[in-house]
Amino acid sequence: MKRIGVLTSGGDAPGMNAAIRAVVRKAIFGGLEVIGIQRGYSGLINGEFREMNLGSVADIVHRGGTILRTARSESFRTAEGRKKAAANLRASGIEGLVIIGGDGSFRGARCLSDEHGVRFVGVPGTIDNDIPCTDYCIGFDTAVNNVVDAINKIRDTATSHERTYVIEVMGRNSGHIALEAGLAGGAESILIPEIEVNMDEVIEKLWRGHNRGKLHSIIIVAEGAGSGLEIGRLIKEKTGFDTKVTILGHIQRGGTPTAFDRTIASRLGALAVDLLMAGRDRRMVGVISGNLQDFDIDYALSQEKTVNRSMYELASILAI
Ligand code: F6P
Repeated sequence: MKRIGVLTSGGDAPGMNAAIRAVVRKAIFGGLEVIGIQRGYSGLINGEFREMNLGSVADIVHRGGTILRTARSESFRTAEGRKKAAANLRASGIEGLVIIGGDGSFRGARCLSDEHGVRFVGVPGTIDNDIPCTDYCIGFDTAVNNVVDAINKIRDTATSHERTYVIEVMGRNSGHIALEAGLAGGAESILIPEIEVNMDEVIEKLWRGHNRGKLHSIIIVAEGAGSGLEIGRLIKEKTGFDTKVTILGHIQRGGTPTAFDRTIASRLGALAVDLLMAGRDRRMVGVISGNLQDFDIDYALSQEKTVNRSMYELASILAI
């Protein structure tokens, strides 16, 4: 193998730059040429390729976002789009791809492999942390810290005004951010899509807290579990408490990646290159109990990533 490509796809995640840096530098160290593909699969179809050198990834390890840009490509969902992407890869001599993104991006890569034999290794990068076969996805730790930072700030004003706050966090189909940030931020209730929402329980808990003199309450809602605005409206209606809603939105996805995210991004990016150089194909890399591992992509995509139920129960007990 002489030349590989690297792209970021789907929602950006802090730490993706550290992963790109690792891919580029590890590959060059191993004697490979590296092409950066701009704007994910959309750039693959449009031939937005640029040669990467050691300097192309200088001064990015600490930056959020992705220097390669990212996109969610509709054309790549079509066989025609993928044919064009494969033709561009062949024409530019790219023999393997490192795909940094979420499970949708891995599914896209698998189609490209099924239909055109394109070799790839997937590196999990999404703040949602919803990819199986890895304990952590790049960006998750930073997003959780962003949310906890916001909770701390909201807590100050919530106490001063003796208010109830509903904070809606990201997680389209998953409650990992809500759960970890809710536990770390001491939320009274955490609503996540994986566990049935019981509003009667949430309200009962609010009353219990109120009756024993709690100055404020914080409810964390993963966007996939329901609308923060709706939940806030319901709480206000049922309790009469002064209730405010904050939707954190994309602020969660930005900012300097934590040391943890940079470390796993660097390690996973480097491993992806090692695998391609060793002739491996259709793999996904992950971190399990602190150790790097790689998995067959069909196996990985057939697994389900579950939330940690005992963590959920603990959060509920601690916020009694
Ligand atoms: O990257 C994952 C994610 O942040 C989800 O949590 C969220 O639902 C979605 O992306 C938002 O996507 P967009 O950037 O397209 O608004």
